[in-house]
Amino acid sequence: MADKLIIFDTTLRDGEQSPGASMTRDEKLRIARQLERLRVDVIEAGFAASSNGDFEAVKAIANAIKDSTICSLSRANDRDISRAAEALKGANSGRIHTFIATSPLHMEKKLRMTPDQVLEQAKQSVRFARNLVADVEFSPEDGYRSDMDFLCQVLEAVIAEGATTINVPDTVGYAVPELYGQFIKTLRERIPNSDKAIWSVHCHNDLGMAVANSLAGVKLGGARQVECTINGLGERAGNCSLEEIVMAVKTRKDYFNLEMNIDPIHIVAASRMVSQTTGFVVQPNKAVVGANAFAHASGIHQDGVLKARDTYEIMRAEDVGWSANKIVLGKLSGRNAFKQRMQELGVVLESETELNAAFTRFKELADRKSEIFDEDILALVSEESVTQDKEQYAFVSLSQHSETGERPEASVVFTMAGKEVHGKSEGNGPVDASLKAIESIVESGAEMVLYSVNAISGSTESQGEVTVRLQNSGRVVNGVGSDPDIIVASAKAYLSALNKLQSKADRVAAQG
Ligand code: KIV
Ligand code: ZN
Repeated sequence: MADKLIIFDTTLRDGEQSPGASMTRDEKLRIARQLERLRVDVIEAGFAASSNGDFEAVKAIANAIKDSTICSLSRANDRDISRAAEALKGANSGRIHTFIATSPLHMEKKLRMTPDQVLEQAKQSVRFARNLVADVEFSPEDGYRSDMDFLCQVLEAVIAEGATTINVPDTVGYAVPELYGQFIKTLRERIPNSDKAIWSVHCHNDLGMAVANSLAGVKLGGARQVECTINGLGERAGNCSLEEIVMAVKTRKDYFNLEMNIDPIHIVAASRMVSQTTGFVVQPNKAVVGANAFAHASGIHQDGVLKARDTYEIMRAEDVGWSANKIVLGKLSGRNAFKQRMQELGVVLESETELNAAFTRFKELADRKSEIFDEDILALVSEESVTQDKEQYAFVSLSQHSETGERPEASVVFTMAGKEVHGKSEGNGPVDASLKAIESIVESGAEMVLYSVNAISGSTESQGEVTVRLQNSGRVVNGVGSDPDIIVASAKAYLSALNKLQSKADRVAAQG
């Protein structure tokens, strides 16, 4: 019988720690529902003690999701752990994930604690957590750079205190596959009670080896849980990517011989949803979910695929949710067709009101754009979820004038706390003029650190999806906007980023 590999998704916690990727409660809930559809075993919904917003997000997810275990991160102290337990109260199956750093560097420089103090705190926090929930995961942060003898001592002690999962993070992405696999194997062999816990891998992608390291931890080390994120989202170079792990284990079942609960048909929708919500665009050549992942441009490849698909394809695009027939709806499509397509895409709207609002937006878009693609629907729904929150700023209309040899001018109408305001400005180009027009009213003083435009479905007829990243007083946020007019999309993205800057989520960083 094949062993089961547990898929632990941390998009909503570790993924959210990427600069600018922070999500609202409703955005997190929507992604959590998609992860449940994907049949992820464990969803790390957030870090409940880090802010009231995250507490509410973990709580809402714990109350709404029934088929996946819901987990909250917590530092190794009673306050964090109690807060996590409180947020998880409504969960069918809840897990507390507590962590403390164990590497010499982190203990000395960051925690300013001795190894004995760290050992005691680790034991005490697992004991405390086990009194609140039955499912407790422990992570020695920067575990891979820790001293093997000390790590064995800590992990043996926390298993004795009742930790049910032991996760070994390569926090800084320093590992290489063979050594990481061997590291997990050694821990499991040397720790006398290692068989009392499930072993888990958690790899960061600083050297581009997060997926390879995780797979080595599974194959060579015997780990049976992988921690990963959709699109590999995460701090710095990101985390191990869920879609790559899942499809590697599935496609190479001959080698890994492991079973998973995951239903890969929902992967592409999950990828789109995470990318649109966070503003982190997926690179076209990204495995499994990149726009080119199944595209065959060269004549030889096309010819081969037409003769026999498996000449150049090791997976089927439709098995991970790429639809063959991409033009889906038009302006004559009715509400039922729209609803059905949304269901096929894995998007569930909570109420008739939400569905009606999304359908109205769909009709508005269909009046301006004859062919509506799946990507348009996903963009429209994700904007819908953003605009449902009581936002400070909302786009109304825009006009601009640009002519070769002349300086462009723009005038933007938007609402500010419900009141309509008009901004006017010149700029280097029409986008610059439009954003300056908004800024002339808002005066946020924010610095723009990224601006990118992406054609949602590939051609000039498609909608433009714009991401704007703003930085202000140490906070970084991403705003996303889509529209067939990229200047309007830019203004929407800018207003969405300003809204995020407005919502003051003072968070405690997990690695802090
Ligand atoms: O990378 C890391 O060490 C973490 C821990 C908090 C588990 O994310
Ligand atoms: Zn991490």
